Amino acid sequence: MAFQGFCDENRPVAYPVPTYSLYPVLADIQNCTAIEIPFDDEFNLPAKLAATNAALTIVCNPNAPTGSFISVDELASLADEIDGVLLIDEAYVDFAENNCTTLVKDFDNVVILRSLSKGYSLAGLRFGYAIAQPEMIASLMKVKDSYNVDAVAIAVATAAIEDQKYFKENVEKVKSERARLTEQLTELGFNVPGSCSNFVLAQCLPPRLSSRDEAAGKNGRAAEIYKELEKRNIFVRYFNDPKLEDKLRITVGTPEQDDKLLLALKEIIK
Ligand SMILES: Cc1ncc(COP(=O)(O)O)c(C=O)c1O
Repeated sequence: MAFQGFCDENRPVAYPVPTYSLYPVLADIQNCTAIEIPFDDEFNLPAKLAATNAALTIVCNPNAPTGSFISVDELASLADEIDGVLLIDEAYVDFAENNCTTLVKDFDNVVILRSLSKGYSLAGLRFGYAIAQPEMIASLMKVKDSYNVDAVAIAVATAAIEDQKYFKENVEKVKSERARLTEQLTELGFNVPGSCSNFVLAQCLPPRLSSRDEAAGKNGRAAEIYKELEKRNIFVRYFNDPKLEDKLRITVGTPEQDDKLLLALKEIIK
């Protein structure tokens, strides 16, 4: 709806990369230019993002697939600096320590997107929502499909949101398992920056370059480990992207699943 409402051939979208792979797909569908501003190696907010003149600027926070988090203050400055709409995709925010809802009070150009797919573990429900000032919501409603989210989804989403005790326990389980996974992967020699999401981005160290990868100037280690895990029916994400090609995105599983992964990794590394 945001792409439909705010973007077209003459009104581009901008976002930092690497990020969620759906944004360029939606830009293509809407036939609008996508201005992709690269993150630095620590995935800090690129200053250039404020100067794109885009109609729609998207920041995925926490970002996927990096798990990194841009501070609320930095996003407040960005909202202030740009003329267009700032859409903050908070799909993973339940696993972070902070969120940007307060910005909606101060900025009429901010839209926050939430999903029940991650923190509530209800991906199959297909339920999400936006938070923004009434005028912004009204503008999005102009391009909304005539039919609403289905009644069963609304009932289930309402029940899920009302049960904050279960929700918080669920999120805490993921966060404590994330800490254990991070620690164990680090012990195995991976570089794992702190994640604010339900996955970690593990850099595969030390690099083992096959001669072919070396010729291509690439770090072949992550791709190699990814393939070995796949053979064992363990599925993580590998992204063929200059900033990600030496890393694996690993979703935090149950303790049993993570133990299987860690055991397999030990074997593969050996
Ligand atoms: C960053 C990000 N935003 C939004 C979504 C959409 O989630 P859903 O359509 O399941 O609500 C996803 C799903 O993977 C995501 O990774």
